[in-house]
This record gives sequence, structure tokens and C-alpha cells, in this order.
Amino acid sequence: MRTRPLKVALLGCGVVGSEVARIMTTHADDLTARIGAPVELAGVAVRRPSKVREGIDPALVTTDATALVKRGDIDVVVEVIGGIEPARTLITTAFEHGASVVSANKALLAQDGAALHAAAEEHGKDLYYEAAVAGAIPLIRPLRESLAGDKVNRVLGIVNGTTNFILDKMDTTGAGYQEALDEATALGYAEADPTADVEGFDAAAKAAILAGIAFHTRVRLDDVYREGMTEVTAADFASAKQMGCTIKLLAICERAADGGSVTARVHPAMIPLTHPLASVRGAYNAVFVESDAAGQLMFYGPGAGGSPTASAVLGDLVAVCRNRLGNTTGPGESAYAALPVSPMGDVVTRYHISLDVADKPGVLAQVATVFAEHDVSIDTVRQKGRNQGSGDEVAVDQGGGGRREGEASLVVVTHRASDAALRGTVEALRKLDTVRGVASTMRVEGE
Ligand code: HSE
Repeated sequence: MRTRPLKVALLGCGVVGSEVARIMTTHADDLTARIGAPVELAGVAVRRPSKVREGIDPALVTTDATALVKRGDIDVVVEVIGGIEPARTLITTAFEHGASVVSANKALLAQDGAALHAAAEEHGKDLYYEAAVAGAIPLIRPLRESLAGDKVNRVLGIVNGTTNFILDKMDTTGAGYQEALDEATALGYAEADPTADVEGFDAAAKAAILAGIAFHTRVRLDDVYREGMTEVTAADFASAKQMGCTIKLLAICERAADGGSVTARVHPAMIPLTHPLASVRGAYNAVFVESDAAGQLMFYGPGAGGSPTASAVLGDLVAVCRNRLGNTTGPGESAYAALPVSPMGDVVTRYHISLDVADKPGVLAQVATVFAEHDVSIDTVRQKGRNQGSGDEVAVDQGGGGRREGEASLVVVTHRASDAALRGTVEALRKLDTVRGVASTMRVEGE
């Protein structure tokens, strides 16, 4: 066993960084045995040096991250500061000065992954980032290595714990979005500014990374269609329940049926209660992978938090250290397939559409005509009369059945069609005089 330690520079010592440092200390002997050499924390770059950091030698702490990555004797830089800059410059500087990099930075990888991989390759170094997607859950390595001989067709997952906590609360308690968000904030699941989570930016970055690896194709953040979950209502959950579904914020990366293109998207969707993702509760994450040979695989676990994220960082650190000792590098970017990324309009999906309509003869026929004109086939229709007092479901009358005029809500679930056709249908429905409003539209997935 080599006795000269491998030197690690830690950039960031917050919730994740402090756990990385703690595990490096408490598991030092095991890490040494597994790597074949000791690993030594050689420096910790922080913004607030005066903060007391238990278990970390104050002599290692610096505010000069640039000088730390330029030292020249650092083997591995662990970047857990997040954001685009200064992380991007620090990572490229680390490669230029001989270090490999382990990062948890999903936003940076989704935006600039190709350039960072190119920089790593140019300098013969590793860039690993298991912690960037779904915390502790092994996903990058299974997709990049374990499934390297298979053909992945679909990655469908819950990759944001904050939004899953909120949606789960709405589902189980009947709470509205704001009430559930307030609880998530009070319990520390949501940040003071929850925008990145609830508007789907965090999940979109993860979808870009997963799609790129799964399909051997560059998929950038801008390629990912994104809708947040702030508009999901208690009424949507009631509708979902009537269909035997729940609502999840899903990241969906798919290879087109003809194999010639891919899509990546993040949006709320109804999924059947029988789907394995429906039972993912609280702040947990889960990702469902479908491939030609393996079939269906499911990865489940804690997608955030200091300790789980540090677990993924440490796994990468061990792998990168082993590579250093073997004078080799692990797999870099694989984008040889270079498949085009299709727009959202090309995605084939199903819609659940809830309409407020005039309850009079011929309305259903008018509505059905709009669907037919857009080549969208209807699966089910449910109508509830609003002027009946009870709000009970009533039989659908296609024309001239003698019902008195009032308001009704009409819930239509379509068969599969292109998102463009489905959207066009909804736009046309909005223009009908007899449609008083489109109460909600939501995609239906997982069937
Ligand atoms: N905020 C993220 C989540 C964790 O709620 O899952 C980091 O990506």
C-alpha cells in the first residue's frame, strides 16, 4: 500500500461539505483500505472563515479557493459550493493544475457539462458527479457503467424531494399548494426561496444530466421542457383520485419510438396509483429506468440532505482516487449518438382536461368535434351537472336530451397524441362560446 496520501481540496463546507469532511475523518481507515492509499483533507475553501467547523482543523480553512485549486499538489477537488460561478472557473482551474474533480453541482453540469468534460479530457483528469442527481441514489454510475451495454429507452423519475413532499401533503391531507408549501418550509424541506424546486428548475437540470448519459447525447438545460407545480390544486388531486391516480412532478427522458430523437421534460402529471412511483412519499426520490435488455429498473432513496449527498460524493472520491493510483481515468462524456432533442410538441402523451361548460343540448358534441378536428381520440368523458344541487355525476347527453341550461363540468381524458395536438385542442376549446373555462389540464403518464 502506498503511504503518501492523496490530497483532497474541499470547496464549500455547508450541509454537504461538512458531512464529506466528517466521513473522510471517521471512515479514514476504511477509505484507505478501499482506495489503497490514505486520503488527506488538504484544504477547505469557505466564505465565512470565522464559523466554527467541528472536526476540521482551522489551519486548513481558507477563503482563497482559487489559490487552493492552483496549489499543484491537490489530487482531487471536491466542489460542493453549487451555482455557476465561481464553481465553473474553479473546476477548470483544478483540471489545469493537475487535479481530478468530484462535483455535486447539477446546475453547472446541466448548463456546461460538455465544456467541463472536454476540459477534464484535455488534461487527462476525471470529472465525477453522482451527487448532482438524486442525492444518495446511485444513478449516474448505473446509467454510465452498469447499463453501458444496454439501450435505455426511458428514464422517468421523481428527482426533487421538496416538491414530492408538497404534493404528497396535498394528496394525503387535501391541503392546497400554499398550505403544503408552508409546512414544507417550516419543516426545512423547502428553502426560503423555493423557486428552483417548485418551478421545476432543479428537476430540469437533473433531467438534462440523466438524458445526456442515458441516450449518449448532449442534452442541455435549455433542451428540457419545464413546467412547475405551483398551479396544482386540491381539485386536481380530487380529479386524479377519481381516475385512480395521484399527481407527481416528473422528470421524463424518452427516446422516440423510431429511435431517431429524444425528449426531456419536467412537469406535474397524473400517474396511476398502481405505478411504483405513486408510492414514493415525502421527500424521497425515485427513478424508473426502462431499457431493451434489462427491462424495468427502479432506483429509490433520499434525494437530498447532507449525509445522503455526502455518501454519493464519497463514492465518487473513492473511484477517482483509485483511478489516480492506477494512472487512469474513468468514463468521460459519451455523446457519440448525438441524437436531436425534439421539442415538447413532439412528445406523445395523454391529457386530463377539466372544462366548465354550458349544460345544454349539443355542447358535448361541439367539444367532441374539437377533439376530432385535432386528431385527438377521447378515452373517457365524465360530466357533472352543477345545477343539480347534489353535484352528482349525471348521464352524458350528446344532444337535445332535454336538460335545462346551467353549468356543468366536463372531464375528458384523451388517448395518446402529440403534445402539440393536445395543446391545440385545449386552445380551440377555450374559444368555444359554450366552454366557460378550462379549469385544468394535466398530462397523464406511467401507463
Ligand atoms: N432541493 C432539492 C430537492 C435537493 O428538494 O430535491 C437538491 O437538488
